[in-house]
Amino acid sequence: PIVKELFGLSDLEEKVRAAFGLNKVIIVAGDSDTSDHIKMELGMAGSRVLRDSLSPGDVVAVMGGSTMARMAAQFAMPSQLKENWFVPARGGLGESVDYQANTIASELAKRTGARYRMLHVPDHLSEEAYKTIMQDPNVSEVVDMIRGARIVVHGIGDAATMARRRKLNNETMDELVKDGALAEAFGYYFDRNGKVVHRMATAGLRLEDIEAAGIVIGIAGGKSKGEAIASVMRFGHDDILVTDEAGAIEALRHV
Ligand code: G3H
Repeated sequence: PIVKELFGLSDLEEKVRAAFGLNKVIIVAGDSDTSDHIKMELGMAGSRVLRDSLSPGDVVAVMGGSTMARMAAQFAMPSQLKENWFVPARGGLGESVDYQANTIASELAKRTGARYRMLHVPDHLSEEAYKTIMQDPNVSEVVDMIRGARIVVHGIGDAATMARRRKLNNETMDELVKDGALAEAFGYYFDRNGKVVHRMATAGLRLEDIEAAGIVIGIAGGKSKGEAIASVMRFGHDDILVTDEAGAIEALRHV
């Protein structure tokens, strides 16, 4: 806290908190776009927030991404989590293995002795394939757990960056641009007003599940993500934002 006051970060946290109507905002100094050390600090801050939010019996649904991976790699609890579950919030989104939600969920569980379940289905399914897959009792059991999670932890990305990383086809890319998508989180794309553009049938977390979750924690930093952060905060279902100084300042420019 003393260091935060020296850098004026407590003031910035309060400004961001008030601007987006959040319960809590944690800001680390610097810009994670330009320093992997800062990105690790962001991950560490995120892991502390998750630690402090957990109660026995909680199911935690996690998204993927490089920021979430740094959070998971530093996650630690004072004692074994025998009564908690970690589950991926969505199925495969076309990310490399290290950044998949499944990988993050299993890493968090292994580091703490908690239990985990995997969701081995592609995320974007045709209506028909979705119905067939949901008839499998193993899949539907995990899906029920995901949708009932009390805590949701997610990254936030710039829409174009994420669409490219996930190799969306040209047609979908064009639609996203046309609809003004500028942020991505939870596998959904958002416009500048925080409105979801492009809903697709998913075996994972739906918008209504995010609304119903007890605690939603967003972890994202870097100047390049400021506008995307503002857009997802405007969506309005996050309780806690963990970001860095550059991301916070840029997000405030887009309130
Ligand atoms: O949904 C957002 C992305 O998962 C963020 O990924 O942390 O690698 O930028 P990133």
